[in-house]
Amino acid sequence: MAADANPTPQEQLDAALLGFESALPQVSSEAELYELQVRFLGKNGAVTKLRSLMGKVPPAQRKELGQAFNRVKQAIDDGLAGRKLALAEAARERNLSRHVDLTFVPDPPRPGTLHPITQTRRELEHVFRRLGFDVVDGPHVEAELYSFDKLNIQPDHPARDMQDTFFIARPEHDPREGAPSLVLRPHTSPVQARTMLRHGAPIRIIAPGTTFRRDDDPTHSPMFHQIEGLYVDRNVTMADLKATLYRFVGAFFGEGLAVRFRPSYFPFVEPGAEFDMQCAFCFDGQLSHGCGLCKQSGWIELGGSGMVHPAVLEQCGIDPSVYTGWAFGFGIDRMAMLRHGISHLRHNFEGDLRVLEQFTSP
Ligand code: PHE
Repeated sequence: MAADANPTPQEQLDAALLGFESALPQVSSEAELYELQVRFLGKNGAVTKLRSLMGKVPPAQRKELGQAFNRVKQAIDDGLAGRKLALAEAARERNLSRHVDLTFVPDPPRPGTLHPITQTRRELEHVFRRLGFDVVDGPHVEAELYSFDKLNIQPDHPARDMQDTFFIARPEHDPREGAPSLVLRPHTSPVQARTMLRHGAPIRIIAPGTTFRRDDDPTHSPMFHQIEGLYVDRNVTMADLKATLYRFVGAFFGEGLAVRFRPSYFPFVEPGAEFDMQCAFCFDGQLSHGCGLCKQSGWIELGGSGMVHPAVLEQCGIDPSVYTGWAFGFGIDRMAMLRHGISHLRHNFEGDLRVLEQFTSP
């Protein structure tokens, strides 16, 4: 035990070498090999430190100890070099045995699919085209003039706040005199004004597209989609509106679904009405008994509608004593959800492929 407690320099060298030899086979990378080298031969390495033992042995033994020290160091150097070679050889073998199949044909890239909202918009366009409507487009960044003024919404009218509009800030020193104030259009109705001013009566159009409001909660997104309808001609009545929307609901959601108006207010129509259809999802061929989608009411609200206000016709260059017209503005996102069974509005806008891949293009 005394010898253990106080090993001779030679015993310490032997112990260090033994430690190295047992660690060496476990080294499996160049980095680990370097670590091992540092552990034994580095500045504070186990063997390097034993050099100081030289001063502690009688001068007669120094030469012998020096030789023993060099032998151990050499053995470690050799061990490291040998292992390094073996690691390199193993890496080479691995590389050579790698199997590359040059005949492999990868899966062809899968074509993308149309977004369910795009699909819905196209289906809507298809249905309305067959009913004799043209499809027109309008800018997303829109003049306040068309968004509000031309639609009988006065500058101080609460409807401007009601819309929760995104106003586009003008540069502080805009050199353009009288440049129009701009907004992100809060509804598709400005396309009504643009079309009337540009083409005059008669008009039969729909205008589907993106709209923006400062709404952001689980059932409202700041970016959403609407479809506007406008029909102006001689002798156009509310009966035409109801008949057209009844045809549309039948063609788009299924024949036989009832529709209804509920009186409502929009500055650009008079009279104005909310438009509902019977819920297609709990419809038994006659009655809708209520379900989660229609909140147990049996009815689904599609949006606003009404007879174009004479003041709007006049503002937009159409003589209200000759012409009458109706208009509607419905949300597309909910229609897409109802038609495709999408459970949450957010799914429409998150770009999640797990959701989108379920809607292969027709
Ligand atoms: N623009 C209205 C809205 O966004 C909807 C609407 C359109 C109402 C046309 C009547 C006529 O709420």
